[in-house]
Amino acid sequence: MSEQPQISPEAVQAAVDAAVAAITAAQDSAQLKQARHEHLAEGSALAVLNASMRHVAPENKAEFGKLIGQARGRVNKAFVAREVEVAEAELAARLQSETVDMTAVATRNRVGARHPLSVLQEQISDIFVGMGWEIAEGPELEHEWFNFDALNFDEDHPARQEQDTFYVDPVARHLVMRTHTSPVQVRSMLDRELPLYVLCPGRVYRTDEFDATHLPVFTQVEGLVVDRGITMAHLKGTLDHLARQLFGDEAKTRLRTNYFPFTEPSAEFDLWHPTFKGGARWIEWGGCGMVNPNVLRAAGIDPEEYSGFAFGIGVERALMFRSDVQDMRDMAEGDVRFSEQFGMVV
Ligand code: PHE
Repeated sequence: MSEQPQISPEAVQAAVDAAVAAITAAQDSAQLKQARHEHLAEGSALAVLNASMRHVAPENKAEFGKLIGQARGRVNKAFVAREVEVAEAELAARLQSETVDMTAVATRNRVGARHPLSVLQEQISDIFVGMGWEIAEGPELEHEWFNFDALNFDEDHPARQEQDTFYVDPVARHLVMRTHTSPVQVRSMLDRELPLYVLCPGRVYRTDEFDATHLPVFTQVEGLVVDRGITMAHLKGTLDHLARQLFGDEAKTRLRTNYFPFTEPSAEFDLWHPTFKGGARWIEWGGCGMVNPNVLRAAGIDPEEYSGFAFGIGVERALMFRSDVQDMRDMAEGDVRFSEQFGMVV
């Protein structure tokens, strides 16, 4: 006979103590499963003691059977109790780790902002659309004929010089980066039906310095009206209306004689800025005049029957004195923090 462990109260107690100690020490369900495997399953001390019942003398069977049964009952009870504890602890830990803090401040998505030049340009366009004008656009890479010739510039007008105008190679193709939005005047007169009430906003190019008050690429808005009986009074009234819409009821404009090849008479116009930061004052704003009959003729319009006015303003300049921007370069550099100061309103 192989040596069988002798069933004794001490042996049973030792097996029970070891099992309960292992079960109590188990910190999670994996350790608990391991404890059950070692102390309750086949091959465990209690299982071996149970198996040795076969060798117990018949008169002792009832006594030892009860001993073993009670021992197994105690170990099972300890196991079930610990199983509940471990399951509760594990659930609590999981809930803790999955907690969502409803009061936490969410990380904000930056929404950016539209560029104030775009916003102002649209605002100016809206004022004219509100009066029934149309918006006209033209190419930024323009033929010299539209940019200069059709606008009555002499062959040797200084503005044509390479120090003012970006010519595109080869020069013989006569392509320039448009130096003003006035070529859109010519395109509008050629393309559209009379009478004409158009506003031409867009980017223009000059070989200017890049400094606080100049940009080599800037934005103009040009207005053009061609109709029967148009006089300078219509021009003045239109400019005053624009000034009031943008700068308040007290704003107005004044004209000072000037020269442009494409208008006659021509004027520079100033804005009376009632809410200027340093106090109300006159500010130089743009150029204007009555469309030169030569320009009307170049577009196939009879100057005996029709007359017109045109004006051009710099949008960067308007933004500078409207929103007190000190340095034009801020408008060109594309730092979103500049645009964000304006939000969606200029
Ligand atoms: N085109 C002129 C400029 O860029 C402005 C202007 C427009 C003047 C229309 C008169 C009429 O300086």
